[in-house]
Amino acid sequence: MACNPEDLIAMAAGAKEKAYAPYSRFQVGAALLTAGGKVYTGCNIENASYSLTTCAERVALFQAVAAGEREFVALAVVGGDLAACFPCGACRQVLAEFAPELEIITGQPGGPVHRRSLKELLPDTFTLK
Ligand code: THU
Repeated sequence: MACNPEDLIAMAAGAKEKAYAPYSRFQVGAALLTAGGKVYTGCNIENASYSLTTCAERVALFQAVAAGEREFVALAVVGGDLAACFPCGACRQVLAEFAPELEIITGQPGGPVHRRSLKELLPDTFTLK
Protein backbone atom coordinates (compact mmCIF):
# COMPACT_ATOMS: atom_id res chain seq x y z
CA MET A 1 0.00 0.00 0.00
CA ALA A 2 1.43 3.37 -1.04
CA CYS A 3 0.00 4.97 2.10
CA ASN A 4 0.28 3.16 5.42
CA PRO A 5 -2.87 1.90 7.20
CA GLU A 6 -2.39 4.27 10.15
CA ASP A 7 -2.31 7.28 7.79
CA LEU A 8 -5.44 6.09 6.00
CA ILE A 9 -7.23 5.66 9.36
CA ALA A 10 -6.15 9.17 10.36
CA MET A 11 -7.67 10.54 7.13
CA ALA A 12 -10.90 8.62 7.76
CA ALA A 13 -11.01 10.03 11.30
CA GLY A 14 -10.59 13.54 9.86
CA ALA A 15 -13.45 12.94 7.41
CA LYS A 16 -15.63 11.68 10.26
CA GLU A 17 -15.58 15.18 11.74
CA LYS A 18 -17.57 16.39 8.69
CA ALA A 19 -20.35 13.82 9.17
CA TYR A 20 -23.92 15.09 9.07
CA ALA A 21 -25.59 12.70 11.50
CA PRO A 22 -28.18 14.60 13.54
CA TYR A 23 -30.52 11.59 13.71
CA SER A 24 -28.31 8.67 14.70
CA ARG A 25 -25.55 10.81 16.21
CA PHE A 26 -23.21 8.11 14.87
CA GLN A 27 -20.47 9.72 12.81
CA VAL A 28 -18.54 7.72 10.24
CA GLY A 29 -15.54 8.66 8.10
CA ALA A 30 -13.97 6.79 5.20
CA ALA A 31 -10.75 7.21 3.22
CA LEU A 32 -10.31 5.42 -0.11
CA LEU A 33 -6.83 4.91 -1.58
CA THR A 34 -6.57 4.71 -5.37
CA ALA A 35 -4.06 2.63 -7.34
CA GLY A 36 -2.39 5.93 -8.26
CA GLY A 37 -1.87 6.83 -4.59
CA LYS A 38 -4.58 9.49 -4.22
CA VAL A 39 -6.99 9.44 -1.29
CA TYR A 40 -10.68 10.38 -1.46
CA THR A 41 -12.63 10.81 1.74
CA GLY A 42 -16.29 10.69 2.72
CA CYS A 43 -18.57 10.98 5.72
CA ASN A 44 -22.11 9.80 6.36
CA ILE A 45 -24.82 12.24 5.32
CA GLU A 46 -28.20 11.64 6.92
CA ASN A 47 -31.64 12.86 5.93
CA ALA A 48 -34.94 13.50 7.71
CA SER A 49 -36.32 10.83 5.37
CA TYR A 50 -34.06 8.28 7.04
CA SER A 51 -33.67 5.82 4.16
CA LEU A 52 -32.10 8.54 2.01
CA THR A 53 -29.03 8.56 4.25
CA THR A 54 -25.76 7.82 2.46
CA CYS A 55 -22.93 5.99 4.23
CA ALA A 56 -19.42 7.41 4.45
CA GLU A 57 -17.98 4.61 2.32
CA ARG A 58 -20.27 5.32 -0.62
CA VAL A 59 -19.66 9.06 -0.38
CA ALA A 60 -15.89 8.43 -0.63
CA LEU A 61 -16.30 5.99 -3.52
CA PHE A 62 -18.67 8.23 -5.46
CA GLN A 63 -16.40 11.26 -5.00
CA ALA A 64 -13.54 9.20 -6.42
CA VAL A 65 -15.52 7.79 -9.35
CA ALA A 66 -16.91 11.23 -10.19
CA ALA A 67 -13.30 12.48 -10.31
CA GLY A 68 -12.51 9.83 -12.92
CA GLU A 69 -10.93 7.17 -10.69
CA ARG A 70 -11.61 3.49 -11.38
CA GLU A 71 -8.93 1.51 -9.50
CA PHE A 72 -8.84 1.23 -5.74
CA VAL A 73 -6.48 -0.46 -3.33
CA ALA A 74 -7.70 0.10 0.22
CA LEU A 75 -10.48 1.71 2.23
CA ALA A 76 -10.24 2.84 5.84
CA VAL A 77 -13.36 3.30 7.98
CA VAL A 78 -13.68 4.98 11.37
CA GLY A 79 -17.09 4.72 13.04
CA GLY A 80 -17.94 6.67 16.21
CA ASP A 81 -15.62 5.50 18.93
CA LEU A 82 -15.87 1.84 17.96
CA ALA A 83 -12.66 -0.17 17.91
CA ALA A 84 -13.73 -1.55 14.52
CA CYS A 85 -16.48 -0.50 12.09
CA PHE A 86 -16.70 -2.55 8.89
CA PRO A 87 -18.84 -1.36 5.94
CA CYS A 88 -22.54 -2.27 5.89
CA GLY A 89 -23.81 -4.86 3.42
CA ALA A 90 -25.04 -2.29 0.90
CA CYS A 91 -21.64 -0.56 0.83
CA ARG A 92 -19.85 -3.90 0.42
CA GLN A 93 -21.87 -4.56 -2.73
CA VAL A 94 -21.24 -1.06 -4.13
CA LEU A 95 -17.50 -1.29 -3.37
CA ALA A 96 -17.33 -4.71 -5.06
CA GLU A 97 -18.60 -3.16 -8.31
CA PHE A 98 -15.34 -1.25 -8.66
CA ALA A 99 -12.86 -3.02 -6.42
CA PRO A 100 -13.47 -6.72 -5.70
CA GLU A 101 -9.86 -6.99 -4.50
CA LEU A 102 -10.17 -4.06 -2.08
CA GLU A 103 -8.56 -4.22 1.35
CA ILE A 104 -10.73 -2.89 4.19
CA ILE A 105 -9.06 -1.34 7.21
CA THR A 106 -10.79 -0.13 10.35
CA GLY A 107 -9.81 1.13 13.78
CA GLN A 108 -9.23 4.34 15.66
CA PRO A 109 -6.21 6.68 15.43
CA GLY A 110 -3.49 5.31 17.68
CA GLY A 111 -5.32 2.00 18.17
CA PRO A 112 -5.06 -1.46 16.67
CA VAL A 113 -5.72 -1.82 12.94
CA HIS A 114 -8.26 -4.46 11.83
CA ARG A 115 -7.88 -5.65 8.24
CA ARG A 116 -10.08 -7.80 5.98
CA SER A 117 -10.34 -8.30 2.26
CA LEU A 118 -13.64 -7.29 0.64
CA LYS A 119 -13.81 -10.88 -0.64
CA GLU A 120 -13.85 -12.10 2.98
CA LEU A 121 -16.59 -9.62 3.89
CA LEU A 122 -18.72 -10.35 0.81
CA PRO A 123 -18.09 -13.86 -0.49
CA ASP A 124 -19.84 -15.06 -3.67
CA THR A 125 -20.61 -11.47 -4.67
CA PHE A 126 -23.51 -10.91 -7.04
CA THR A 127 -22.32 -9.94 -10.51
CA LEU A 128 -23.84 -9.88 -14.00
CA LYS A 129 -20.49 -10.87 -15.58
N1 THU B 1 -23.14 4.23 8.37
C1 THU B 1 -22.07 4.46 7.57
O1 THU B 1 -21.75 5.61 7.23
N2 THU B 1 -21.37 3.38 7.13
C2 THU B 1 -21.66 2.08 7.43
O2 THU B 1 -21.01 1.17 6.93
C3 THU B 1 -22.77 1.78 8.33
C4 THU B 1 -23.57 2.93 8.81
C5 THU B 1 -23.91 5.39 8.86
C6 THU B 1 -25.32 5.49 8.33
C7 THU B 1 -26.00 6.29 9.41
O3 THU B 1 -25.81 7.66 9.14
C8 THU B 1 -25.25 5.93 10.68
O4 THU B 1 -24.05 5.32 10.27
C9 THU B 1 -26.00 4.98 11.59
O5 THU B 1 -26.43 3.87 10.90
